[in-house]
Amino acid sequence: MCGIVGAVASRDITPILVEGLKRLEYRGYDSCGVAVYDNGSLRRARSTERVAELADHIAKDSVAGFTGIAHTRWATHGAPATHNAHPHFSSLTGNEPSIALVHNGIIENHEELRRELQGVGYVFESQTDTEVIAHLVHHLYQGDLLDAVQQAVKRLHGAYAIAVFCRDEPHRIVAARQGSPLVIGRGKNENFLASDALALAGTTDQIIYLEDGDVADLQLGNVWIMDSGGKRIERQIHTVHVHTGAAELGPYRHFMQKEIFEQPRAVADTLEDVESVTPELFGDAAYKIFKQIDRVLVLACGTSYYAGLTAKYWIESIAKIPVSVEIASEYRYRDSVPNPNTLVVTISQSGETADTLAALKHARSLGMEQTLTICNVSTSAMVRECKLAYITRAGVEIGVASTKAFTTQLTALYMLTLALAQVHDRITDEQEAEQVKALRHLPAAISAVLALEPQIIAWADRFATKENALFLGRGMHYPIALEGALKLKEISYIHAEAYPAGELKHGPLALVTEEMPVITIAPNDVLLEKLKSNMQEVRARGGELYVFADDDTKIVSSEGVHVIRMPEHYGYLSPILHTVPLQLLAYHTACARGTDVDKPRNLAKSVTVE
Ligand code: F6R
Repeated sequence: MCGIVGAVASRDITPILVEGLKRLEYRGYDSCGVAVYDNGSLRRARSTERVAELADHIAKDSVAGFTGIAHTRWATHGAPATHNAHPHFSSLTGNEPSIALVHNGIIENHEELRRELQGVGYVFESQTDTEVIAHLVHHLYQGDLLDAVQQAVKRLHGAYAIAVFCRDEPHRIVAARQGSPLVIGRGKNENFLASDALALAGTTDQIIYLEDGDVADLQLGNVWIMDSGGKRIERQIHTVHVHTGAAELGPYRHFMQKEIFEQPRAVADTLEDVESVTPELFGDAAYKIFKQIDRVLVLACGTSYYAGLTAKYWIESIAKIPVSVEIASEYRYRDSVPNPNTLVVTISQSGETADTLAALKHARSLGMEQTLTICNVSTSAMVRECKLAYITRAGVEIGVASTKAFTTQLTALYMLTLALAQVHDRITDEQEAEQVKALRHLPAAISAVLALEPQIIAWADRFATKENALFLGRGMHYPIALEGALKLKEISYIHAEAYPAGELKHGPLALVTEEMPVITIAPNDVLLEKLKSNMQEVRARGGELYVFADDDTKIVSSEGVHVIRMPEHYGYLSPILHTVPLQLLAYHTACARGTDVDKPRNLAKSVTVE
């Protein structure tokens, strides 16, 4: 999703802005731009190409300055075109522009504001909701940018992170956040801002996380922050060591491939030095909260939602606590029956997903106060909003498609299952010790699955010519089938659907022909014989089966049945192992089709708008 970078300094800041945008590229964007203050005027470069091309324009046109803002845009209002790209300028007709502004989020009352501003003479050059804010700030400006922004944000409905500067106060940037992430980076006699700390890696590690309603005034020597009531407040400065290596590819072709191969390390880091699973891993108050709850409600989106679906099987089977799993964007708008004894669990890689945050707030507004998040970003809004947290240690995930974030979420959710089972006396010490042993062996088991890559590449070449695919799984592997289908569609653009295999004959079997590859997850579990019957149903209709079978299933290749042998069945943790070949299949199929794997069309990494 959109990314913001800004800087006020006594040196040319365009290299910092460009580097920051490059670091934000992973979030997904379709246009980008930079504006700086240069010798009494505002200058701007914008592009619908990549940040590298924008950098060429900047160099060619000698765009340079001491104060500036930059942006990667993921189109919501108005097509991905240069005139819609940020920064947006404002002036009254005929005058030189005096306000430059960038924005993430969506302003819901933009049409009403647009009409009002047109009424007082502003002419709009774009279809964006952002230009409305630029003109509004200009309209309210009377010599003090902070004052103008504070007044302007009072008129905005919706979600935003904005950064704005003014030709008449060139050593100042004013920023504000409501619902979209924004951080301040402190330097020595220079200050910065960005959508996340990664964008400022290498520039400063002194980071302040703005909170909703905050307005920040950045000048050379200081930063002042005001809360939503306009009161001056101090926000803590964190020293953030962003691993800059995360933004480097190393020997891999794409970040997605790198991140798939990082999973043994990511899972090991997420397990940390866990010798035994205790509730305290989730926070000091966890024991008390886990003891008092008698149900679990999971709220999440996309891949994180599928992690929640898998956890439902685990928690109900091991901890014997009823679980419901809801797509956050649906839950927040439907009538549901709240129960105060519910543990509300949000799952989010970024911790900034607007729908999940809103669903969490909705659950709380219904009286469900016991909240836990499984999240990959310790400083995110999600972690701040929840009473309990388990931080997955996937590291920065650059590829838009979630891979290591998913498997680390599953790892954390399995630990949650064991902790709940422990507190509710549903597991013996011996059973728990056995499960912890399996968890600790997981990184090695994932490495063994990664070694199957050459066989998967051979399949991917065949898949690349297809336009449809069906994924089958049963029981706790059904959510993994859903995740496999999502991975394939989002990066290869092959239409894919997933079904619990028992559902085939209730409809989707009608789609099965020789042209339809049917990817089947075949663990050696209690449903194996049922699954084999479902596979027969596919073969009888001429469908080609591509089976990821546990070694001990003894399923072998035959006509129309292609088998890749996985290691032996891995018990409850088997869904994590079976995820990995599906990631590799999607990845290599996308490579064979030549798509932009790390930045699939129309998608963004961190979905901070509704
Ligand atoms: C798919 C994918 C998305 C995210 C979803 C939630 O590969 O990455 O479906 O899982 O947008 O994002 P987070 O986990 O950041 O809340």
